[in-house]
Amino acid sequence: MLTVQTVYDLRQQIRAAQAAGQRIGLIPTMGALHEGHIALVERARRECDLVVCSVFVNPIQFNNPDDLARYPRTLEADQQMLEKAGCDLVFAPSAQEMYSEPARLRINFGELETVMEGAFRPGHFNGVGIVVAKLFNLIQPDKAYFGQKDLQQVAVIRRLIRDLSFPVELIRCDTVREPDGLAMSSRNRLLSPEDRAAAPALYEALTMAHELMAEGQSPSLAKASVTGFFSQRPGFTLEYVDVANADTLQPVPEMQAPGQTAICIAAHLGKVRLIDNLVF
Ligand code: PAJ
Repeated sequence: MLTVQTVYDLRQQIRAAQAAGQRIGLIPTMGALHEGHIALVERARRECDLVVCSVFVNPIQFNNPDDLARYPRTLEADQQMLEKAGCDLVFAPSAQEMYSEPARLRINFGELETVMEGAFRPGHFNGVGIVVAKLFNLIQPDKAYFGQKDLQQVAVIRRLIRDLSFPVELIRCDTVREPDGLAMSSRNRLLSPEDRAAAPALYEALTMAHELMAEGQSPSLAKASVTGFFSQRPGFTLEYVDVANADTLQPVPEMQAPGQTAICIAAHLGKVRLIDNLVF
C-alpha cells in the first residue's frame, strides 16, 4: 500500500492504473477509521482492481469550528487498518494541497438543502459536494463507495453525479453498528464513558419508530413517540426526527414502497452531535 500526499503523485498512480486498464474504486473518508469505513474498503476490494481511499478532514464542510478542531486525526492507525483491509493507495493531502486558494464555487442542492442535515448545517453539503467533485476529478473512479449512515450525503452525491455527468457508479453500503446498536462513527470516540453508555438510545428510538410504523401507525405518531422518548433522557437534545423518502429525503406522510421509507435522527449528546437512520 502506498500513501501519497500530493496531487502530482496521486495523478501518476492513477494514470498508471488507467493505462493498465484497472477498474478504480474510491472510498472518500475523513480518517479516524473504524469498521464502518473498513466495510466500504472491503467491498471495493472485491469489486475493483485499484482500491483508493482518501483521508482528508475537509475544512469547508464543517459549519462548527469546534467540531473541526476536535475532529480526531489518526493517520498512522488509519494506514494500518487500510493496509489490512487490502487498500492499494491512500491519498492524504494537506488542506493547502486541496485548497491552494479558497473554493469560490457554491453548489446548491435545491430541496436537499432544506431538510435535516441541510437545514441544520448550513454550507455543509456545499463543502461535501466540492471535495467529492475534486476527488472524482483527481482519482476518476469507476465506483465510489458511501455509507448509508450518512443517507442524505448519498442523495447529495447521487445528484452531483447526475447533474455533472460524472462517469462514476455510486455504491451505497449498509450501516455498520457496535454490538449494542450504536452506529459506528469517528465522533463516538469523543463521547465520555457515561455518554457512550447512553448513546445506543438513538438506535433504540429508531427501532421503536420503525415498529410503530410496521404496525400501521403514521409517521407523525412515530415522530411524536421519538420526541417523547428523548424528552425522558436528560443527556440528549434531539435536533430533528424525520420520516422521509429514502432517495429524495423529502418528508412523507405515510409509509412508502419497500426500501423507500427512511427515519432519520440527529441528536446532541454532551458536546457530540450524532446522526443515525433506518431504511425500511
Ligand atoms: P466520514 O464521516 O469519514 O465517512 C466516510 C464514509 O464512511 C461515508 O460514506 C460514511 O457514510 C461512511 N460511514 C461512516 N460510518 C459508517 C458506518 N457506521 N457504517 C457504514 N458506513 C459508514 O462522510 C464523510 O467522511 C465526508 O463527508 C466525505 C464523504 C469523506 C467528504 O469529506
